[in-house]
Formats: sequence, C-alpha cells, structure tokens
Amino acid sequence: MFGFWKTWKALEARGIMGINRRNADYVLKYNKRSLYPIVDDKIITKERAIKAGIHVPELYGVISTEKEIDNLDKIIGERNDFVIKPAQGAGGDGIIVVADRFEGRYRTVSGKIIGHEELEHHISSILTGLYSLGGHRDRALIEYRVIPDQIFKSISYEGVPDIRIIVLMGYPVMAMLRLPTRQSGGKANLHQGAIGVGVDLATGQTLRGTWLNNIITKHPDTTNAVDGVQLPYWDGFMNLAAGCYELCGLGYIGVDMVLDQEKGPLILELNARPGLNIQIANDCGLTLRTHAVEARLEELKARGITETVRERVEFVQEMFGHIPAVEG
Ligand SMILES: Nc1ncnc2c1ncn2[C@@H]1O[C@H](COP(=O)(O)OP(=O)(O)O)[C@@H](O)[C@H]1O
Ligand SMILES: [Mg+2]
Repeated sequence: MFGFWKTWKALEARGIMGINRRNADYVLKYNKRSLYPIVDDKIITKERAIKAGIHVPELYGVISTEKEIDNLDKIIGERNDFVIKPAQGAGGDGIIVVADRFEGRYRTVSGKIIGHEELEHHISSILTGLYSLGGHRDRALIEYRVIPDQIFKSISYEGVPDIRIIVLMGYPVMAMLRLPTRQSGGKANLHQGAIGVGVDLATGQTLRGTWLNNIITKHPDTTNAVDGVQLPYWDGFMNLAAGCYELCGLGYIGVDMVLDQEKGPLILELNARPGLNIQIANDCGLTLRTHAVEARLEELKARGITETVRERVEFVQEMFGHIPAVEG
C-alpha cells in the first residue's frame, strides 16, 4: 500500500485527476444526462454503433422477461460458445463467458462447468436487476464470444484483454491495455483483478503495468513482460475511440475495445464515468492532458474550426505521444 500512495502523491504534482474533479469538471460538464442511456445500456450502445458502421460483437438475442427465458435454447442454437451479460451491468459483474459445451452442459472460459438450468437462473437474476446500476430491472443479452488476437497469448491469462481509451470531446487523451489474470476470471476489469498497462498514444507500445494497486512489469500468471509490446492496428483503435464522440454525443467517455482474431477491432462498451487508475498505469495525470485538449478546443472555437477524427488523433499523438520506455 505504501508504494501505491507514494506513486499517487508523486502523480499529484503531475496533474493527477481525483474523483471529485472528474465528476465536477468532466462527467457533469461534458456528459448530458439525457444521453446516458446510450452508454449505460449495452443493447442501445450496440444499436448505435451498428448504425454508425462501427463493428461490435454480434448480438445473438435479447431476453427481457421471465417468459422469454424459454427462448434461450433457440438463441444459443448449435453454438458452442457465447457470452451472457446484463445490459446495464458494470465492472464485469454478471457476465458469463461460455467457451465450450461439455456432456450436455457448458464450460466457462475459466473452466467452470454449468448446466442449462443454472444459465436460466442466472438470466433470471439479471432481469431482476441484481447486476444493474441502481438495481433497476434489466435485460440480458447473448452475444458473440470474442476470441482474442494471438498477440495477447503471452501476456494474458484466459479471457479477453481490452483496450480502454479515455476520450474528451472526441480527442483520445489516455490509453490502457487491460489483461485478465487467473484472479479476474477471464474478465479485463481492474477491480476483478485484471492488470492495467499504460499505452503510448503515438505508437501503441505498452508501458508499465499496475496490478492490485502495485506497479508491475511482468504478468503474474505468465511471467512475461507486459511492457514494450507493440499493439497491432493502433491507429485504427485511436480512430475508433475518437469517433465514439460522434456516436454517442457524450463529451467525456471511456471507450472499451477488443481485438478479435478474425473480426479485428470491435467496440465492447462505452463508459460515462471512466475510472482513474489509468493514470497509474501511464505514470501521468489526466488533467495535464485534458487541459491541453480544452485549450485546443478554445483556440479552434475562436477560429471557427472543428477537427475531423483523423486531425484529432494526429493532434493528441503529437502532443502526448512518444513516451520513452520505462527504465529499470
Ligand atoms: N463478447 C465477449 N467475449 C469475450 N469476453 C467478453 C465479452 N464481453 C465481455 N467480455 C469480458 O468481460 C469484460 C467486461 O465486459 P464489458 O462488456 O466491458 O462489461 P462491464 O460493463 O461489466 O465492464 C471484458 O473486458 C472482457 O474481458
Ligand atoms: Mg467494461
């Protein structure tokens, strides 16, 4: 813990953003309340993304009522793998990633065997709001299981790593690769025990990692180095993230993306209150960068200019990118 506080204190001097500032100066200021459903409900996010021509994991079906649970068999069909998740869930809770069938039952990505009844019961819990923000009634969605690109084999344990980029008014400001661990049960959420690794915005090279509030350079399960890894399609991810501003209209978001072995970059979800740990993984405070973007916006406004996705990405890569590799 001491190491963590030392890091946090050191970052404070370098423009670290705390939760109060994030809420007051960014979430409340840039995110219109009426637009929240677009990001808080994963089914609506998906519909929007498809309309905008942005790729997402295919939706196999939606279950909205107890009665519709009878449709589960039909929705799954002959498929051996799929994912069940609450439409309004968060933090990886309530997500079941089925990787295979086993003697009439299902095998999850972390090796747990579950029966059909258990799945039905789980969906019923989702509907009652067990996993939804504020405990409201929810819907369950069944979707394509992402198969991570081979590049992640050596630095990931089971499950699917995701790439989180924080985007202010269409400008990506900070990026992090999140790697599942044995502890996180195949999910890439930090509070489930996944690792967060900073990413250089210009090159897509990984920096150092943070795990359970400690600084790390190796994956605890695979023991391979997590820094110095070149992420493929990096500019594609940057453009995808920047374009999510037009997709949802929210000015301050966390964009979660994955790299599927066959389908390439996909949007997993958008977040209106992105977490702050990304700063530790990048050894850099968010406000340093958000202020630079806000100054840019002021300047462009005075000149009556708005920038395209490509221009915005170029600006941030020039401004915040090319971080020298960590030493020691
Ligand atoms: N379709 C999927 N295929 C494989 N893994 C998934 C899929 N959807 C989610 N996951 C895993 O679960 C994690 C959390 O999923 P996400 O959709 O972001 O929900 P949450 O809002 O709970 O974070 C992802 O980071 C990923 O590791
Ligand atoms: Mg997520």
